[in-house]
Amino acid sequence: MKLKINSGSKIKGTIDISGAKNAVLPIIACALLTKEEMVIKNVPLISDVLNMVRIIDYLGAKIEYDYQAKELTIEAKKLKSKIDTPYVKKLRASYYIMGALISRKKKIVSRYPGGCDLGKRPIDLHLKTWCSFGCKCFENSETLIIKRNTFKPTTITFPLVSVGASINAILTAVQIPGQTTINNIALEPEVYDVINCLKAMGAKIEFVDERSITIEGVKKLKGITYQVIFDRIEAGSYLLLGASVPHSEVTIQNVDSAYLNNTIEVLEHMGCVVNIEGTQITLISPDKLKGLNIETGPYPEFPTDLQPLLSTVLLRAEESSTIIDNIYPNRFSHILEINKLKGKAKVNNGELIIYHSLLKGGEVIARDLRCGFALILAGAMADGTTILHEGEILLRGYENLITKLQTLGLDIETTV
Ligand code: EPZ
Repeated sequence: MKLKINSGSKIKGTIDISGAKNAVLPIIACALLTKEEMVIKNVPLISDVLNMVRIIDYLGAKIEYDYQAKELTIEAKKLKSKIDTPYVKKLRASYYIMGALISRKKKIVSRYPGGCDLGKRPIDLHLKTWCSFGCKCFENSETLIIKRNTFKPTTITFPLVSVGASINAILTAVQIPGQTTINNIALEPEVYDVINCLKAMGAKIEFVDERSITIEGVKKLKGITYQVIFDRIEAGSYLLLGASVPHSEVTIQNVDSAYLNNTIEVLEHMGCVVNIEGTQITLISPDKLKGLNIETGPYPEFPTDLQPLLSTVLLRAEESSTIIDNIYPNRFSHILEINKLKGKAKVNNGELIIYHSLLKGGEVIARDLRCGFALILAGAMADGTTILHEGEILLRGYENLITKLQTLGLDIETTV
């Protein structure tokens, strides 16, 4: 899918923010922990959700997906133990299905998960977690086998903060009799959303310290109706669209500003005015932006997922800026594309240096999900027309993308 973006349009309008991709994917896996019916609300219609649904459909779960109502009904009475479908490689979050399935099956065989190419993305922490619970893990280039020898509660202390491994440890522990302790857990809002969902299903999870939880395994989890939180990365993406063009006015609805503090602080530092009214945020962008020096980090630090977008917007700042991505140190695939649009930015010893640039329209490629959105911002900023190739990757994580962008005034259309 090619997208054609013409600059020059005024960015002004109001859009609703959808449910969180990185919360709904593990919450779909939660539905596999019970044989009762689960109803998940505020499900964004994105291809990662469609692929996750295809995987659990392959496994034998009963599924009804009401796109209009944004509701997913899942009943996982009987499930296969071999996750042998190509959809597993379409997204990284497919590993949550392993975390859920191992509590029901003595042995699971799966293909490797996929996901955006952000540089090295090992799953060693996930494997070590399952081994810590008494499983044996075997892997070769294509297949992952997890066998439950004993299945015992354990204490895990993560050497680094990992969203996925934290969630997988919780999914595995909630039905293991006894007390499991997990230290150095990720605190992303999406992790809290999974914990809240599991507690509503009857799981016994308590925070005992800022980054430590205990889990008392329960015999059975019940099916519930659960509403997924809003997508803070989508929200930040549209606020950054507002910041990318002078004198824009972008209003986003159905959000909780508490989860966006790190992003709002950065936008205000750059000179944007951000007004918060209940579940609505309005951003007004200045004629000129200020540069800044920032590092990404685990929540509540600035999110790595918005780093490609922020670094693109900073091209229009008066001063130069620097960014270090502490989560994915090589997450700079957008820079090669930005350079094609006369953007001046380069990586020096792991630090991205961004210089004031006047972008010119051109042809670029969406290398991954967030790189794709960064290049849409570049198209909004560039003088002339920008063609974004492989735009379909954006549909992995942005619901109603073109409609929302057009509603905000961006001159964008799909083209052949
Ligand atoms: C989640 O990925 C998100 N994906 C990512 O969003 C996000 O960038 C990332 O968290 C960080 O916030 C989903 O939730 C589906 P990690 P995840 O485990 O869980 C290293 C997007 O665009 N690590 O928190 O895979 C890893 O290499 C996507 O929506 C290991 O070394 O990320 C990274 O440096 C992109 N071994 C760091 O930990 C492991 O076994 C944090 O990764 C696992 C991770």
